[in-house]
Amino acid sequence: MTSVKFLGHSCFLVSNGDQSVLIDPFLTGNPKASCTADDVSPDAILLSHAHADHLGDAVSISQRTGAQIVTVFELAMYCGGQGANVHPMGIGGQRSFDWGTVKFVQAFHSSGIQTEGGFLYGGMPAGIVLTMGGKTIYHAGDTGLFSDMQLIGRRHSPDLAILPIGDNFTMGIDDAVEATIMIQPKKVVPMHYGTFDVIEVDPDEFKLKLTDQAVECQVLEPGESLDV
Ligand code: NI
Ligand code: MN
Repeated sequence: MTSVKFLGHSCFLVSNGDQSVLIDPFLTGNPKASCTADDVSPDAILLSHAHADHLGDAVSISQRTGAQIVTVFELAMYCGGQGANVHPMGIGGQRSFDWGTVKFVQAFHSSGIQTEGGFLYGGMPAGIVLTMGGKTIYHAGDTGLFSDMQLIGRRHSPDLAILPIGDNFTMGIDDAVEATIMIQPKKVVPMHYGTFDVIEVDPDEFKLKLTDQAVECQVLEPGESLDV
């Protein structure tokens, strides 16, 4: 059994019972976080891109626990320079680790690393295809709608798709509905809404608009889990 716990915004903890992987750990400063950075001890940390609401506490959690940060090359090198244990990858590359298999896929967004001296180049933003405990999860990161989501669905048959719906910075609800239809996952969970005023949308509208589709939409409150 693979369980997926929503920790708020775009942060999820995926567990196979023995091991766990933390995605986009924005906990400190996240008004919707269901726990603190000190409450999590994952085996690895996956990052979709460098924006502060995704990079979040990744470096400090890696330093405290030794968890390896797995992400795209430039962001991995940046985190390594900050003292984290890292493994760099690139879009389209897949690798098996002792806790699961990861492939980075495209996302249409940006990925600057915000520093006191301005933005650093963070490499490509990404979506994450994670297979763990025999289940495949597609966490789309921050992205607009793109038709190759159909290819990601065909290629990986995700058991669960986790899609942004908050609009402004990413897809809104109607584009996320279109994305779900293209990906055809067994289950879909919305993310990246309600954390800030500018991305305030009603996730139940997303669920309602998927009523006629052969997909189970589950809206999670921060702290809630689902079994995949
Ligand atoms: Ni972003
Ligand atoms: Mn974001």
